Amino acid sequence: MTHPFSLSGSTALVTGSASGLGFEIAAALAQAGAHVLVNGRDAARLAAAVTAIIRRGGHAEPLLLDVCDAAAVTRTVAGLGPVHILVNNAGARDRRGFLDMAQDDFRRLVEVDLMAPAHLTRELARGMVARGSGRIINIASIAGPLARAGDAAYTTAKGGLVALTRALAADLGPHGITVNAIAPGYFLTEPNAEFVRDQAVGEWLSRRTALGRWGRPEEIAGAAVFLASPAASYVTGHVLAVDGGYLAHF
Ligand SMILES: NC(=O)c1ccc[n+]([C@@H]2O[C@H](COP(=O)([O-])OP(=O)(O)OC[C@H]3O[C@@H](n4cnc5c(N)ncnc54)[C@H](OP(=O)(O)O)[C@@H]3O)[C@@H](O)[C@H]2O)c1
Repeated sequence: MTHPFSLSGSTALVTGSASGLGFEIAAALAQAGAHVLVNGRDAARLAAAVTAIIRRGGHAEPLLLDVCDAAAVTRTVAGLGPVHILVNNAGARDRRGFLDMAQDDFRRLVEVDLMAPAHLTRELARGMVARGSGRIINIASIAGPLARAGDAAYTTAKGGLVALTRALAADLGPHGITVNAIAPGYFLTEPNAEFVRDQAVGEWLSRRTALGRWGRPEEIAGAAVFLASPAASYVTGHVLAVDGGYLAHF
């Protein structure tokens, strides 16, 4: 009998997976048996990530692609074999106040955090529809349902990504495709480096989260493996918070 969390025989594409949460997700999907396309814009960082996954016994190859380059995405997807699992993880952040952000800066943020996942999903979902099955996982944020000052573009994009998750669950469900999101809380990755060094932020987070601490990057991976696996075959349109209890606790 196949293990309910086994991904063997499937191919997964994880965007932005040379570092941070994306790398941990890619490594865990590979450990569960998937062949993983490791994506990013820097060939050297991609090669190092692929090597690290292979060293752990997984199967992986690099996919050098800027997910914001719509024409390149369309071209690249046309040249790929079947992709059974898509994780839209690549993202960026701009913590300037709303009034300090030019409209073009706002648009750039929404482009990488929302428009790029929509385009890549559309291109890859065509093959999933033809096969009658597929898994799409969007890496959203606790900034989907909540907002804080100085984060308007990111909050807009992640809120949109949660809405897109629901909309595509409805659109693609009849074709056997599940569409879910993961909402990470505060994780120890590079974009948070400044906060991690700030003792006041650490103390606030230890009061604010039920578990009283930052998330370790590898703690995101189990949720992605679950949503990609046969065990989640009847789960769609769901947002799974992996946030140490941030949303549940105040
Ligand atoms: N860390 C947290 O606490 C947290 C909380 C909530 C949500 N999230 C979300 O989780 C995801 C990962 O965050 P992270 O903290 O792991 O950030 P990270 O370490 O900065 O990773 C982001 C990755 O995305 C890649 N990337 C950025 N733009 C890209 C593009 N246009 N095309 C292809 N790849 C691109 C980057 O690689 P290259 O620059 O080499 O291309 C990088 O490897 C993001 O969507 C973020 O919003 C994180």
